[in-house]
Amino acid sequence: MKLTILRLTTLSDQDIIDLGKIWPEYPADTLQPDATHMLYAACFNERLLGAVRVTVNGQRAMLDSLRIRDLTRRRGVGLYLIEELLARHPEITHWEMSDQGVEDRAVMNAFMQALGFSPCAHGWQR
Ligand code: ACO
Ligand code: MG
Repeated sequence: MKLTILRLTTLSDQDIIDLGKIWPEYPADTLQPDATHMLYAACFNERLLGAVRVTVNGQRAMLDSLRIRDLTRRRGVGLYLIEELLARHPEITHWEMSDQGVEDRAVMNAFMQALGFSPCAHGWQR
């Protein structure tokens, strides 16, 4: 089975279960994506291993709530998810990742720098 990156446009019952494991703090009815609030997820064996929210505003996009499930961390999943999402939106010239809710700032900082982002006021930018 191959790891794939999906933009979720409608959520299946299974997606809602998987997203509930990724984001136990978010009620299911707050997750519905739309044209400007996108959800991208990394999928393996028909299960979502991690996800991120993307809010687009013109040529700028804000990322938040990136989380890869504990058991699959440090295997390149996060890097693949973000690199693929950036590649699918060449129209975006400015990317930011919010630091809101980040569990471990040092880990997130190392990860964002691996992606070529640098620290800014409320997170990281590129
Ligand atoms: N320590 C140091 N460097 C790291 C670490 C770490 N623990 N994790 C990643 N990196 C860096 C390394 O350079 C790594 O490359 P390497 O493994 O070749 O050295 C590079 O980032 C890429 O790592 P990936 O394996 O792609 O990262 P992973 O898939 O584990 O995802 C992430 C990284 C997203 C930071 C993950 O650890 C995670 O989800 N952490 C929790 C993030 C968080 O706080 N989310 C909550 C937001 S609020 C909310 O969701 C409601
Ligand atoms: Mg991983």
